Amino acid sequence: MQRQHLLFEGMFTPHPRLSLWLIVICYCLMGLHHDVASQKKMSCRVTDGRADCSHLSLRTIPQNLPRNITSLDMSHNRLVGLPPASLNPYTGLLHLDVSYNSVTKLDEHLCQTLPLLQTLNVRHNEVHLLKMEDLRLCTSLIQLNLASNRLKMKGDPFAALKNLKFLDVSTNQLPSAKLGTQPQLPSLVDLSLAFNGFTTLRKDDFSFLNHSPFLQTLNLSSVPLKTLEPGCLEPISGLRTLILDGSKTDSLFISKLCSELAGTSIDVFSLRRTTLVTLKNTTFAGLQKTNLTFLDLSQNGMGTIEDGSFQWLSKLQTLILSENTIKHLTKYTFQGLKSLKQLKMTKALVKGHATPVIDDFTFQPLSSLESLILQRTAVREITEHTFTGLTSLKEIDMSWASYSSLRIITDKTLVSLAGSPLRVLNLTATAIAKINPGSFSFFKNLTILLLDFNFIQQTLSGKEFEGLSQVQEIHMTYNHWKVRLCSTSFVNVPNLRVLTLGKSLNNTAVNVDVDPSPFKPLSHLTFLDLSNNNIANIRESMLDGLVNLKVLKLQHNNLARLWKSANPGGPVMFLKGAQNLMTLQMDSNGLDEIPEGALRGLINLSELSLSNNLLNNLRDSIFEDLKSLRVLRLQKNLITAVKPEVFQTPMSNLSILVMDKNPFDCTCESILWFVTWLNSTNRTFVPDLTDQYMCNTPLAYYNHSITMFDTLSCKDMTPFQALYILSSTAVMVLMATAFLVRFQGWRIQFYWNILVSRTLGFSDANAEESREFEYDAYIIHTEEDKRWVDRMIVPLENEKCSFYLEHRDAIPGTPQLNSIVDNIRRSRKIVFVISESLLNDPWCQGFTAHQALHQVIEASRDSVVLVFLQDVHDYKLSRSLFIRRGMLRSCCILEWHCHKERIAAFHQRLLIALGMTNRLRE
Ligand SMILES: *[C@@H]1O[C@H](CO)[C@@H](O)[C@H](O)[C@H]1NC(C)=O
Ligand SMILES: *[C@@H]1O[C@H](CO)[C@@H](O)[C@H](O)[C@H]1NC(C)=O
Ligand SMILES: *[C@@H]1O[C@H](CO)[C@@H](O)[C@H](O)[C@H]1NC(C)=O
Ligand SMILES: *[C@@H]1O[C@H](CO)[C@@H](O)[C@H](O)[C@H]1NC(C)=O
Ligand SMILES: *[C@@H]1O[C@H](CO)[C@@H](O)[C@H](O)[C@H]1NC(C)=O
Ligand SMILES: *[C@@H]1O[C@H](CO)[C@@H](O)[C@H](O)[C@H]1NC(C)=O
Ligand SMILES: *[C@@H]1O[C@H](CO)[C@@H](O)[C@H](O)[C@H]1NC(C)=O
Repeated sequence: MQRQHLLFEGMFTPHPRLSLWLIVICYCLMGLHHDVASQKKMSCRVTDGRADCSHLSLRTIPQNLPRNITSLDMSHNRLVGLPPASLNPYTGLLHLDVSYNSVTKLDEHLCQTLPLLQTLNVRHNEVHLLKMEDLRLCTSLIQLNLASNRLKMKGDPFAALKNLKFLDVSTNQLPSAKLGTQPQLPSLVDLSLAFNGFTTLRKDDFSFLNHSPFLQTLNLSSVPLKTLEPGCLEPISGLRTLILDGSKTDSLFISKLCSELAGTSIDVFSLRRTTLVTLKNTTFAGLQKTNLTFLDLSQNGMGTIEDGSFQWLSKLQTLILSENTIKHLTKYTFQGLKSLKQLKMTKALVKGHATPVIDDFTFQPLSSLESLILQRTAVREITEHTFTGLTSLKEIDMSWASYSSLRIITDKTLVSLAGSPLRVLNLTATAIAKINPGSFSFFKNLTILLLDFNFIQQTLSGKEFEGLSQVQEIHMTYNHWKVRLCSTSFVNVPNLRVLTLGKSLNNTAVNVDVDPSPFKPLSHLTFLDLSNNNIANIRESMLDGLVNLKVLKLQHNNLARLWKSANPGGPVMFLKGAQNLMTLQMDSNGLDEIPEGALRGLINLSELSLSNNLLNNLRDSIFEDLKSLRVLRLQKNLITAVKPEVFQTPMSNLSILVMDKNPFDCTCESILWFVTWLNSTNRTFVPDLTDQYMCNTPLAYYNHSITMFDTLSCKDMTPFQALYILSSTAVMVLMATAFLVRFQGWRIQFYWNILVSRTLGFSDANAEESREFEYDAYIIHTEEDKRWVDRMIVPLENEKCSFYLEHRDAIPGTPQLNSIVDNIRRSRKIVFVISESLLNDPWCQGFTAHQALHQVIEASRDSVVLVFLQDVHDYKLSRSLFIRRGMLRSCCILEWHCHKERIAAFHQRLLIALGMTNRLRE
């Protein structure tokens, strides 16, 4: 029981560490919440006198905004009212938006507080009762939006709004269009009554607008009108625009409405998304006397248009029939539309059970028509008379249409357009497979021919474009790599400015790699698109003579080989002919090299795009002529270094640089200049600089933004560099000296000694010192070295200098020990001729050396001179002779080299060693 209790306690008393964790987690969650909230607006934003307090869940109007604001947006909050006092601080307001709140009432003193108010938006609130007094003082109001409320009007609430131009009371379940009992709103221009529930327009409904001469637009969209009392539109006869979109109407109602419109200035009539499925020949009869110029009948599901339906609309200029399901157009359909300039029938004829039919001469009545849009229509066929009579037509758009007649275009297919002064022929995506010679020959005035997105599979011989002498643009992109070119392809279109062949050329065929080039006749060409063709072969002469070429698109081809220095015959400089290029795009070509001179002379180039290639080491001078460059794209290459030798010129005037996703080498040598340039440039926009320009090497910077590169680390380099140069020079000098000394040192020393002895005399031993001794030196050597001694040392003897040589000068009979002791004493110096044999000679080792050392200690160290015939280790020396090199002055240690040329130097040194005074220097 006790145990259980303890356990219980342990479980429920928060463990100190646990509670700490809880606190941490709570804190993190709060922080998270805080973060999410902080991305949203926490308080009103004020800019240029406009306060934006929307979406802040406010229940009242903030009182702490600048007092001089002119516009206040309080939309999407939780206001339930607009107490005028809460607006007291902002008496200068011109615009007040309280839409999307729960305001139930407009206070009559609101406009007293805000006497200058021009715009009041109360859309989407709960305003119910609206009395005369409520807006009594709002005389400055120009726009009033009361849409989506629950308005119930008492008296004439708008009577005082003498300056109001725009009034929106849509979506209010208003029982009628009558907004007042007496004439008012003298300035009204636009009235929206849309989405209200009334079904009748009574004769006096609009009488309140009797004195509103400027009223132009009436929006009655989605009002379920059924009944129109005669004369209901009389008070607003100045009406110019009527919008009836989304109404459930039939042709009978429309014809009644049109009769009512007869007496108005109606100009624009919009009837979209209604249920008007059939047009009768009388539907628009009422409009005969009007000057209607614009009629929109789109999205009506209209299947039938009776012959003569439009005969009343002789002033109509624009007719929109888009998105209907018209089955049949006859030569009477458009009868009477003699002013029509634009006929828009996008998706107006679509394939249902049967393919729609356009009869011959259907368009003949449209003698003024300038633009005929048949986009995305389906028609059984185009005959020799389909378009006959369109004597003013400038543009015909049959794009994305499915007309079987267009599969193979012959000189008959479009002949019905021969009488039209056509400028633009849009045959985009019409499934063309072949164009026969002379197909367009009658389009003498054609300037733009659009053939994109087709399946044209043929060699363009040039005859296809016969007669198109005025054509300036031929667009043929996306022809699925089926088009082939030859030298004569464009001989008939000498005025061509724009030619697009992207994704169209069959690259297995010869195509652009011909001589003369297919583009040779096109001296006016300014824009050439050859992208996405996988072109691998281009001749150097391809662009010859294209002096006007400004834009050249070559991206997504296979041009890498042409620019390789290893290309047989050298790199192909195909840009030579196009010296006035302004835009060059060569992205995605597998380029790993830009040969010297490839971009030479392109001084007008302002945009160069080379992204998605394999460029790495760029030659110093390749961009040197690109002084006008504004846009440079080099993203996704293998560029590691951005050096001034390559980039200083092209980057000097840049507006946009795109160079991200390269494996930058973040070392001082590779990137310092670039990073400094990026930091200092303020005219060049470099998108994604901080997160897409990453270092790849060295490891320390791997995956860091190049902007993190520490330029200061390079600045410190300068003194280091100096130091480096200095120290390395010193080392070199030292090394040279060492070598010189090691190999020629004896010679230097020799000449030095000569110099010294010439000036100072041989010996520094003074006269009295020399008088104490009988011999200048006692020579200790072994039997083996006797010959050497005789040859090298004995010849030095003269009247001033004599040696004691045991084998020569020992007086026979004298005890050897005594003789040694005496003669060593009588010699000023003791010379050891050291060789392995001396060290091994027991006699020498023993007594002689001992005696000599004794002498050394007794007199002075300097009386010993060692002459090494062989290189003997110091250790061995000290073991056998009790002497070390270090005990002696260096001039007393001589080494014998058996070079003939060094004998003199050796003698010199020996004499110096012997000439030394025995005294230790003080
Ligand atoms: C409003 O007043 C502030 C100072 O209170 C001033 O900085 C600002 O320019 C004024 N704004 C307008 C639109 O007058
Ligand atoms: C139609 O226009 C003509 C001339 O432009 C004009 O005289 C006539 O009054 C206009 N008719 C209507 C109903 O506005
Ligand atoms: C309308 O069509 C009917 C036959 O469909 C014809 O009798 C009538 O004359 C036409 N009315 C007009 C004004 O064209
Ligand atoms: C030609 O048709 C295409 C596709 O509908 C359209 O995008 C383009 O704007 C048209 N061009 C012209 C010049 O009308
Ligand atoms: C074609 O253009 C020329 C001049 O540009 C003009 O004289 C001629 O009338 C035009 N042809 C047509 C059929 O409009
Ligand atoms: C390209 O042309 C060759 C013959 O030159 C032909 O065999 C090939 O089918 C063509 N390719 C395409 C996609 O039409
Ligand atoms: C960038 O420039 C600013 C001022 O021009 C300078 O303070 C800063 O150190 C520079 N940063 C780098 C990385 O060069």
